Amino acid sequence: MIPIARPDFGPEETAAVTEVLASGMVAQGRRVAELENDWADFVGVKHAIAMANGTVSLMSIFAGIGLEPGDEVITVSHTFAATANAILYTGATPVFVDIEPDTYLIDAKKIEAAITPRTRAICPVHLFGLVADMDMILAIADRHGLAVVEDACQAHGALFRGRPAGSFGHGAFSLYATKNMTTAEGGFVTTNDDRLADWLRLYRNQGMRARYQFEMLGYNFRMTDIAAAIGIAQFDKLEKNTARRRVIAARYDERFADLPVRLPVTPDGRTHVFHQYTVDVGSARDAIVEELRANGIGADVYYPIPVHRQEYIMERGLHADLPVTDAAAATTLALPMFPGLADEEQDRVVDAFRAAVARHGGSGADARPELAAR
Ligand SMILES: Cc1ncc(COP(=O)(O)O)c(C=O)c1O
Repeated sequence: MIPIARPDFGPEETAAVTEVLASGMVAQGRRVAELENDWADFVGVKHAIAMANGTVSLMSIFAGIGLEPGDEVITVSHTFAATANAILYTGATPVFVDIEPDTYLIDAKKIEAAITPRTRAICPVHLFGLVADMDMILAIADRHGLAVVEDACQAHGALFRGRPAGSFGHGAFSLYATKNMTTAEGGFVTTNDDRLADWLRLYRNQGMRARYQFEMLGYNFRMTDIAAAIGIAQFDKLEKNTARRRVIAARYDERFADLPVRLPVTPDGRTHVFHQYTVDVGSARDAIVEELRANGIGADVYYPIPVHRQEYIMERGLHADLPVTDAAAATTLALPMFPGLADEEQDRVVDAFRAAVARHGGSGADARPELAAR
């Protein structure tokens, strides 16, 4: 099986972990501090705070900006559920707006209609490795006095007008095993807000500043030095691996140019880091995925059930009318995308995909007027 994703681990990670183990100092320490410095420089922000995972990175930002029950955060339903969960954990309410049909990102034109007196923040998700329309989002946030919390969990190094994901508002990144860089489990918060950064450093460590002096109620959301050592090795490879993802994406683009499917788009002024290579194949999606899997190709669907249609969300009465989100959930699939995908493996994916589309009929853009018109 050619998997959908595979982490790029080599002798660098093994050596880094071995060194930490041999030192006996395995919990949060100097490697975490080094990785935080690397990441803050890379994103171009004052502070990067390493956390246990992306979910608590997001949730800690929401807690740190003071969200309370009754507050609302505008976000998308076409995302991993952690985005909404992070809002819900604080007692606040996610308000879902629809996505753009071509980028799968929050449709910024629909944000203002969702703003109420309880809205506190906008949380765009830079899904699949592409930054949302931050020009519009920042302008709206500014106009309405809202915080911007970027779910950059899939967008390590993606740029919008030359600025990296995670540098526009407060950013949350995931370092989960399949992400563009990984510490197995891990995350970062990025911010230019000194007060928030200080609060987060306390919050992730039981509220403790000096030994056994607890200034506030906190958690244990720390990253280990073992994880950070892996992260430093991964960070060293990130630019090379992102370049490789782009080569793979360009190769898919070229081989699929004549097919009746909708390929990923990169709007002007942005760079895509291709966490996923997502294709809209139309109503035959499930049959195509099934055939690819039967042929040893690990195609997958991100995400088959939108968050607003999950039982636990509906039970909370969080209804939303999101036709473009529903359509994307029904008609898109992702193909194997990872830096170690060999050309011969990609050729197998290409051949299997072309055959499946020929057999089941791709009808991505053509079948749906709102796509064909764009
Ligand atoms: C869009 C998005 N948000 C949030 C998360 C949560 O990150 P983690 O799995 O590290 O908790 C992920 C990753 O899994 C993600 O893809």
